[in-house]
Amino acid sequence: MNFPSWYPEIKQMHIALVAASGLLFAVRGAAVLTGKRWAMRSPWRWLSYGIDTLLLSAGVALWSILSLNPVQSPWLGTKLLLLVLYVVLGSLALKRAPTPATRRLSFAAALCVYLFMASVAVAHHPMSVLQNLLGVYV
Ligand code: HEM
Repeated sequence: MNFPSWYPEIKQMHIALVAASGLLFAVRGAAVLTGKRWAMRSPWRWLSYGIDTLLLSAGVALWSILSLNPVQSPWLGTKLLLLVLYVVLGSLALKRAPTPATRRLSFAAALCVYLFMASVAVAHHPMSVLQNLLGVYV
């Protein structure tokens, strides 16, 4: 398959934005949990929207260049499903969870899902690193 010459740059950008987005979420989430108000102020919220929009756009660009089908490439399908879960958990952690305890739990779960998504992408396997631990070969 012939990739455009700028494919590696888009992939590098996607990976850099994955790191930036995860780091920003981790810092804002920790700040919200410790009662810091700056974390929900508009410059940080807009920075987060901007990074996430670029991250997802680069992901969709890679997806379309590779002409992947999420059903035939289960690692991609898994990543997209986990993305929905991450968005829900992230929103609970930063805003919508009714109690501090559920906020903390949602924050920890969102970080775990994010790291798992990254490892699914690197392993190109829906079970990611767990495939070896669990002895599962799909
Ligand atoms: C709309 C959302 C997304 C789509 C459609 C998408 C799609 C893709 C595609 C097609 C690749 C290229 C894989 C290759 O070159 O073989 C890729 C790479 C990657 N993605 Fe995403 N992605 C999305 C979101 C995310 C998120 C949220 C994360 C992290 C939590 C992530 C982490 C990665 C990583 C780490 C790689 C590099 C994998 C490698 O080293 O080969 N992606 N993504």
